[in-house]
Amino acid sequence: MSTSTNSPRSGRAVPARPSLFRSILRPRNLAITAIALFALIQVVSFPVISMAGWQTNPNPLAEPAWDKPETRALAVRSCYDCHSDETVWPWYSQVAPVSWLVTRHVIDGRRKLNFSEWGVRGVEVNEVTRAVRSGKMPTKDFLLMHPEAKLTDAEKQQLIDGLSASLR
Ligand code: HEC
Repeated sequence: MSTSTNSPRSGRAVPARPSLFRSILRPRNLAITAIALFALIQVVSFPVISMAGWQTNPNPLAEPAWDKPETRALAVRSCYDCHSDETVWPWYSQVAPVSWLVTRHVIDGRRKLNFSEWGVRGVEVNEVTRAVRSGKMPTKDFLLMHPEAKLTDAEKQQLIDGLSASLR
């Protein structure tokens, strides 16, 4: 039996079928695959892993004794979306897979520090001011979507001084 890849009738070579993987990697197919995946994620995540149930704003219990309204305003501007019960959930936070990421940030953020449930967990003032001074907080990905949350050096110092006076 012949093992030749030539077509037995015409004698011309049969073009090799590109592998599924290689054809997915073509730009046009890549776009189609991405759209299909996105659609699939919406369909699957909606009933199964919808984040809507997690995107709550529980009733605020108690806030720190803010030294000045300006201190609170700075904290609201750059921290409250993840560290309070007054999260503003933007439209894209409803759309998977971003919803998973954003919801996770808020849950983790509130667990560490929740300005709306002040006194519930022991939070070290130094830890909070350090997070601002080092630039670790607010997080880089958050600033990408919320440029208004970015603090100038002067505002950072104002927030640090205000937090030191308020969080006891
Ligand atoms: C995008 C959401 C988000 C914003 C906005 C944000 N944080 Fe956080 N923050 C987090 C998450 C998530 C953690 C938990 C990170 C971890 O466990 O490593 C955290 C942790 C912390 C901690 C715990 C110590 C540490 O460094 O991990 C402090 C203190 C803190 N944030 C302060 C702040 C302050 C102050 C602001 C505002 C200037 C702020 N954060 C803004 C999400 C946020």
